[in-house]
Amino acid sequence: MFDNKIKNICCIGAGYVGGPTMAVFANHCPYIKITVTDINESRINAWNDSDTSNLPIYEPGLDTLISLYRNKNLFFTTNIKESISNADLIFLSVNTPTKTKGIGAGKASDLKWIEASARQIAKFSKGHTIVVEKSTLPVRTAKTIENILSESQEIDNNEEKKTFSVLSNPEFLSEGNAINDLEKPDRVLIGGEDKYAMNSLVDLYLNWVPKEKIILTNIWSSELSKLTANAFLAQRISSINAISALCEATGADIKQVSKAIGMDSRIGNKFLFPGPGFGGSCFQKDILNLVYLCEYYNLHEVAAYWEEVVNINNWQKDRIFKLIVLKLFGTVFGKKLAIFGFSFKANTNDTRNSASIKICRNLIDEGAILSIYDPKVDNNQIEKDLNLSLNETSSREKMLWSRANSIQSAVEDCHAVIILTEWEEFKNISWTKLIKKMKRPAWIFDTRSVVDVLKAEQAGFNIWQIGNYTS
Ligand code: UDX
Ligand code: ADP
Repeated sequence: MFDNKIKNICCIGAGYVGGPTMAVFANHCPYIKITVTDINESRINAWNDSDTSNLPIYEPGLDTLISLYRNKNLFFTTNIKESISNADLIFLSVNTPTKTKGIGAGKASDLKWIEASARQIAKFSKGHTIVVEKSTLPVRTAKTIENILSESQEIDNNEEKKTFSVLSNPEFLSEGNAINDLEKPDRVLIGGEDKYAMNSLVDLYLNWVPKEKIILTNIWSSELSKLTANAFLAQRISSINAISALCEATGADIKQVSKAIGMDSRIGNKFLFPGPGFGGSCFQKDILNLVYLCEYYNLHEVAAYWEEVVNINNWQKDRIFKLIVLKLFGTVFGKKLAIFGFSFKANTNDTRNSASIKICRNLIDEGAILSIYDPKVDNNQIEKDLNLSLNETSSREKMLWSRANSIQSAVEDCHAVIILTEWEEFKNISWTKLIKKMKRPAWIFDTRSVVDVLKAEQAGFNIWQIGNYTS
């Protein structure tokens, strides 16, 4: 039996999950030394930057926590060996994107970073170590981690035998609201078999999470619950997006429909906002994981059912792109268009799977010239996502896209404003002022229902708003 009081925590992966999660642990576990480690040196340097506006990720409230706990009980380092060897408990928060090559390409998760981390743990850990999966992983990954840990250890002659307990503790935080989600989680899910290890983790959470919110399950239930939660959430969005198209065709108003169905307590009023299609690092990846799993078990109808959620999401992005072209007299060639919002949702600088990427890329391929404004996403990220360097010129010797520093400068000589992210500052725009800088007829395409349609029309705009009938 080992002492189940945790004194040293290591988190492998200093990303959108690892960084905020460990900041909140540091806030509530002042007597535990928490070390966040990553192979990406520039990322670690950014976490250690004395100016917290340079942190690698933008998340409301995160900078305050980092200022309070960094170099007190929260450390960021590239020294993976030392971080692992000192740790009683290790969180795995590395990235697990969808595979692009090989078996399961396009559906299965790429576990190469998980495997690499497990091998590092097997090599550098000492004594007994609890290994906790935080990244969203395909069901049964814990078993893989266990196999790697037990079969690839290197033990010095005079070193005591290494032992491991693997737990699943999926993260349910949503970006842009991460600190709040971590501070007041709806539930904390811990899956595993080793009661001592599970209790050690429970003890950590009890520092701020009420006992009744901590659920203990077997490891497979825990892993599958995470995939299922994300699949259900994404399904709601595809459902409301599908109905938004029907509203546009029939004259029903999606806001009224959302309100009416959301008041049914069995449905509930959250996650009923139509949009340009869900993005983020989880939803698509997790549904595709679920689809892959179902196919593996020959549950083809179940696989097809869930895959349709992703298909509708792709269709939504495509239909929005096409309707923009159609309303702009069937061509956007040579036309300047202002894009408001590039991140996959408001309050984050994350662009992974953002609907903006696909919609912008399609518009550029149709010959449009984009002026992109996003309060938190920088040039380099847009360049990477569009796969088009900022200096790349079209045959017409014009820049294909540029990044504007404000709403006002973005719309200069534009034919349309296309709102793709629901940033707060897009909700109170003075359309009367803005239209003066634009070409006529001037259009607004509001995919996030943030514009007051009447005011925009009074200012002289033509407006298309998602889920609203327009002739
Ligand atoms: C999601 C889950 O919410 C979280 O529990 C899990 O841990 C990770 O995946 P996240 O991707 O960060 O979190 O953000 P979320 O708020 O779920 O939004 C995902 C996408 O759905 C965004 O593109 C968002 O704009 C879109 N969305 C969300 C809608 O289009 N309409 C809605 O009503 C809600
Ligand atoms: P998430 O949204 O899941 O947090 P991110 O991509 O933001 O995903 O973060 C994952 C982090 O994990 C990245 O910063 C990446 O460099 C790091 N990482 C991946 N593999 C390893 C590894 N073997 N050791 C340490 N860090 C790793």
